[in-house]
Amino acid sequence: MNRARADRALSTPRSRALGMHLVLVLVTCLLATRALVAHDGALAPTPSATPWGEDYFPNTLLTDQDGRQVRFFDDLIKGKVVVINFIFTSCSDSCPLETARLRQVQTLLGDRVGQDIFFYSISIDPLSDTPPVLKAYAQRFKVGPGWRFLTGEFEAVTDLRKKLGLFIEGVDNGRNKDHNLSLIVGNQGTGRWMKASPFENPWILADQLANTLQNWKQASAEQNYANAPEIRPPSNGEELFRTRCASCHSLGPQDGQGIGMRSIGPDLIGVTRQRDPKWLNRWIREPDRLLAEKDPIATQLFERFERIPMPNLRLDENAAQSIIEFLEEETERQQPLQAAQVP
Ligand code: HEC
Repeated sequence: MNRARADRALSTPRSRALGMHLVLVLVTCLLATRALVAHDGALAPTPSATPWGEDYFPNTLLTDQDGRQVRFFDDLIKGKVVVINFIFTSCSDSCPLETARLRQVQTLLGDRVGQDIFFYSISIDPLSDTPPVLKAYAQRFKVGPGWRFLTGEFEAVTDLRKKLGLFIEGVDNGRNKDHNLSLIVGNQGTGRWMKASPFENPWILADQLANTLQNWKQASAEQNYANAPEIRPPSNGEELFRTRCASCHSLGPQDGQGIGMRSIGPDLIGVTRQRDPKWLNRWIREPDRLLAEKDPIATQLFERFERIPMPNLRLDENAAQSIIEFLEEETERQQPLQAAQVP
């Protein structure tokens, strides 16, 4: 994953056009609402408030991980608040990152997923990603109910990506199966769509889905700042850890507690004491290479963690080192060596 690409994706001409449309729709809605209030003194729902209705979106035939056939517009997005991303199960870098992040968002949203918020991951590699393959992928990542993994005709899926503004000419149809990493969240009924990055804070994404996109129907729970933790500026290593690693790794038993966060990779408290520093630095930079070289530790970890590859996050040596320093500090904070050495 590289941030430059995600940022570029956010400003494709298509998404900018979408933005312009949104402004127009908003203005039109406001005017229409005023008129209604003036004449009837009451609000009436405007069913066709969005230009992104059935005329815009194709009703693509897709099959989910349980072999059920569904239509993209009618069954998946019509009148719904949705998260949509495009993946392929043999992708080892960006897709696990996105899947891990979305899984955190799903955990935060609880059983609203499948009720008023719907998750869809659509394969861009339909030849390999048959429904059973998608089902195994969903199980490996332990995703909960309400999140469908879908496959369909290659051409039709490409068309869908274009319509959603998640296809970059030259990148997405380039030689390697690299693809646009953005995901999109939206409310088809109101026509409000937003792109999101896989590095986004899961709480923010969850809040957009639970509140903002629901047109603020559900007021968020009252904030209680009495127990708020002290705010201190994070170090570079901590910042990197929170944005690149925390979707898959916890730090100690308290991390993610209370929201039932299960981790995809191992807990990392103590890892700096357990592993050789050189190995650790290299692993953080290029786990894929170590695995390809059949490094014994890498191979053993890979087998133990459901064969989910840790992504190569394109970090340089300094970045890896500052993460290691943060992990050392955090380990020392949670398990001071002094205390551990008491006989
Ligand atoms: C998409 C999920 C994911 C992300 C993101 C991720 N990892 Fe991992 N990590 C894993 C998995 C899974 C393993 C277990 C090995 C395997 O299956 O490849 C692992 C293993 C590790 C290990 C080895 C632990 C040991 O016992 O030696 C370390 C260290 C590690 N990750 C650090 C990081 C750091 C640092 C980052 C951020 C820069 C990061 N990981 C980002 C999934 C992830």
